[in-house]
Amino acid sequence: MANYQLPRGTYDAYYEDALNIDKLVDLLKSFALTYGYSSIHTPIYESTSLFTRSAGESSDIVTKEMFTFTDKSGRDITLRPELTAGVMRAVVTNKLYANKDLPLKLYYYGPAFRYERPQAGRYRQFNQFGIENVGVTSFYNDVETIIFGYNSLKMLGFSHVVLKINSIGDEESRQNYKKALKEYFQNHIENMCSDCRRRFEINPLRILDCKDKDDQKIIKNAPKMCDYLNQESKEYFKNILDLLNMQEIEYQVDDTLVRGLDYYSHIVFEYHYIFGDGTSLGALGGGGHYDNLVHEVGGPQLSSVGLAFGIERLNLLLKQVDPDNYEKVNLDVYLMTLGSENLPYVFSICQNLRANGFSSDMTFDNKSLGAQFKIANRKNARFAIIVGDDEVKNKKVKLKNLITEEQFDVDLDNLIDELDQKLM
Ligand code: HAM
Repeated sequence: MANYQLPRGTYDAYYEDALNIDKLVDLLKSFALTYGYSSIHTPIYESTSLFTRSAGESSDIVTKEMFTFTDKSGRDITLRPELTAGVMRAVVTNKLYANKDLPLKLYYYGPAFRYERPQAGRYRQFNQFGIENVGVTSFYNDVETIIFGYNSLKMLGFSHVVLKINSIGDEESRQNYKKALKEYFQNHIENMCSDCRRRFEINPLRILDCKDKDDQKIIKNAPKMCDYLNQESKEYFKNILDLLNMQEIEYQVDDTLVRGLDYYSHIVFEYHYIFGDGTSLGALGGGGHYDNLVHEVGGPQLSSVGLAFGIERLNLLLKQVDPDNYEKVNLDVYLMTLGSENLPYVFSICQNLRANGFSSDMTFDNKSLGAQFKIANRKNARFAIIVGDDEVKNKKVKLKNLITEEQFDVDLDNLIDELDQKLM
């Protein structure tokens, strides 16, 4: 017999995990609607060049992590490592930018793929929920995006979130900074890892992402971005910090934060949750401002800002931070039939409960009452409805609260009202 294994870096979600992932996503979608975002769906694969151009040829995502293949017609295809590039491609393909009321405000959810070393909160297939604002003209849009992320996490119940923010400046500032980095690393690059030697040639900014311990010591003394921001970039950053202060959003300026994608300019930010022992799951989400991506993928020059959350990390956090409130799979009502001749009556009630929005279930097998109570228990039902010959004859049911064990006779006509009250 074949023995199929779960592919490395992937997971199966079921029961509580699947339920809570679905709930998280539903909550984030509703929250995005309250900020005026609308949904967009794009394919999970795109031309490879879309990602090499947008994420950047020097990024780890492009050089090491993409799931790339050739399709049967010889096209170079990649499973999306993130959703922003595909969304911008869709904005251009469908000329959504021609909308008179920019910015476009879009939200999305779906799988992304990165060939990373799996560990807690890091998978090769994971899900992102994100927002993009396309065609922005004010730093208010950046702040609104940052606040959306911050308040989303609060809404989900995570109060100890650390918001890290930095400016990587405009193109001119970054060019000057890259020059300074090249000068600095020139004397060290021989002794640095092969990745850094490659980054040095293509984009020295990426060296700052290096995790190698020895390289880190060299990186610690490298020039800082904040010393290379031109006047305009400094002002842009200041406006954003002032507005965050005014809105009483706490943040930490982190001048080592550059993020792993090449398309950003000006503002980049991440949300972290630090546990009591100082450990963290890595960033729960991150994003930033980008000026050239729409143009890079064939559209007009439109500044944009967005962010994405990793849904698996949010789910892991939810489970760890508040295990008692981690949603359980449950039912409002489990219906129990005594005598198979009463099955049609119970089946009709069950359908009626469902039509009225109560989660309800029953068995069609002829089982003893004890066996049916055991099922109700395993399914975490809050109420049992028990029906035998007398109940059918009198158009009633027995309603039992499975938590308090109280039991009542209820007229069929009053059942919905009764349950409505009791389940409130
Ligand atoms: P990112 O920081 O690469 O940004 O990913 C966003 C989030 O996805 C991360 O903060 C993390 O929670 C989650 N994530 C990333 N890689 C993995 C993984 N291997 N396993 C589990 N979760 C992961 C972006 O992708 C940008 N597109 C965000 C953005 C939107 N910027 C502007 N607009």
